[in-house]
Amino acid sequence: MSKQFDVVVIGGGPGGYIAAIRAAQLGFNTACIDEWKNEKGGPAPGGTCTNVGCIPSKALLQSSEHFEHANKHFAEHGITATGVKMDVAKMIARKDTVVKQNNDGILFLFKKNKVSFFHGRGSFVKAVDGGYEIAVKGAANETLVAKQVIVATGSNARALPGAPFDEETILSNDGALRIGGVPKKLALIGAGVIGLEMGSVWRRLGADVTVLEGLPTFLGAVDEQIAKEAKKAFDKQGLKIELGVKIGEIKTSKKGVSVAYANAKGEAQTLDADKLIISIGRVPNTIGLGAEAVGLKLDERGAIVVDELCKTNLPGVWAVGDVVRGPMLAHKAEEEGVAVAERIAGQHGHVNFNTIPWVIYTSPEIAWVGKTEQQLKAEGVAYKAGTFPFLANGRARALGDTTGMVKFLADAKTDEILGVHMVGPMVSELISEAVVAMEFKASSEDIARICHAHPSLSEATKEAALAVDKRTLNF
Ligand code: FAD
Ligand code: NAI
Repeated sequence: MSKQFDVVVIGGGPGGYIAAIRAAQLGFNTACIDEWKNEKGGPAPGGTCTNVGCIPSKALLQSSEHFEHANKHFAEHGITATGVKMDVAKMIARKDTVVKQNNDGILFLFKKNKVSFFHGRGSFVKAVDGGYEIAVKGAANETLVAKQVIVATGSNARALPGAPFDEETILSNDGALRIGGVPKKLALIGAGVIGLEMGSVWRRLGADVTVLEGLPTFLGAVDEQIAKEAKKAFDKQGLKIELGVKIGEIKTSKKGVSVAYANAKGEAQTLDADKLIISIGRVPNTIGLGAEAVGLKLDERGAIVVDELCKTNLPGVWAVGDVVRGPMLAHKAEEEGVAVAERIAGQHGHVNFNTIPWVIYTSPEIAWVGKTEQQLKAEGVAYKAGTFPFLANGRARALGDTTGMVKFLADAKTDEILGVHMVGPMVSELISEAVVAMEFKASSEDIARICHAHPSLSEATKEAALAVDKRTLNF
């Protein structure tokens, strides 16, 4: 006997679980299917983000940052900390607890919002009168029918040909988040977001870390001035980043792993390490979804083809998050999930792709929203720029972390903010002000005229806005 729902969501990551909650809030009888299992085989909703992504990586970044502070920065505050040790097993166990709290939180939210949760793999069986039949296989074996289906099946780590993940020596993000002890030598391929965050964790804990990057430029999507400043800080910390390499053969042995590569000059090199993390991007996941059973259209990358409203080629079938085009970010997935649920309800759900913030949670943190200076130049847009260094910010001095700056880019004629770029302490939090400003189409003068608490890091935001008009007060 099949179970009838108004809306069935396949995938319980940030795109899927949030879509399910919003659909239920809007009065739809909603089900969410997710197959992720915890170590006991039980449900672990939350997807990549909760289980092997955003949440566990930030837990490890926090633990490793405490360790680095205790070892390297306490002394300047007059605190003597001797014999500081890192118990890696305890750090990983803490991270697992944080993950479980989030898994349990989502199960609680499903109950609270009356979303029916099914633990197993969901796949399209066929189109039926009044919608689609979806089989659930796993802990739950059920047949569901719904008129509206939201696919939010996420993404998986991209492997390098000839170097499959064994999660022991060659690690994806999954293995990288549960290394049992500090490797003496750690190699990473890909100096993107994961490479920098995971490289930072294990460097802080004492590993000798080398990141090999294929492109000749560092963080090409980031504003050049900000990327340059970040690179300087990472170099100082001892995070070795080699740009413009071409990866050759990767061999594993009992001792570890050996990566053959050509450096930027074309010279043959070998990097030996205990472990290798491969972080070269992610691929959309439609494995076992049964897309072919109903004729759901995928592109050449395997992503589900959607229009700007997240509609697929099938009536009543929508797709959101990492499995569709656009940045692979949890908050982008969530926004799309909410917007789709609202569109199903006949409302005007909206996602503004121009104001999706990016954050890289290294130290210094890197955050941005809107256009970079190089993009504005390429597009021939006339702009004014203003920067303010944390070196001149009182709170940053008190914190003992004056690396980096805030940078505003505003339209030369109208002064509308076109982009805000930051590198420095806690900029993951500071960027929200810039997002709000850009959503409200604020000018740099608007921010410059707003009273910001003193002493706070946010004063650097105000000062950078003042700098657009060349009238900083503290620099
Ligand atoms: P996912 O989170 O991948 O969820 C998809 C879910 O669907 C999974 O639970 C999967 O098991 C399930 N599923 C798939 N197929 C089926 C099926 N057929 N039936 C049932 N269930 C199925 N983003 C940020 O914004 N900030 C960060 O700090 C951040 N850090 C990250 C760190 C790492 C190491 C990684 C790898 C990613 C990080 N991301 C971060 C990216 C973020 O995790 C993703 O953008 C986000 O999880 C995408 O959400 P989603 O719902 O589209 O997919
Ligand atoms: P990424 O796209 O950020 O970086 C991949 C890097 O690998 C790029 O610099 C690319 O040039 C390089 N590369 C690709 N192929 C290569 C090759 N063959 N040899 C050498 N270098 C190569 O991807 P990453 O780090 O795997 O992360 C995946 C996604 O997950 C991110 O793009 C982001 O969407 C998301 N994420 C977000 C985080 C955040 O918001 N803080 C944290 C971690 C991941």
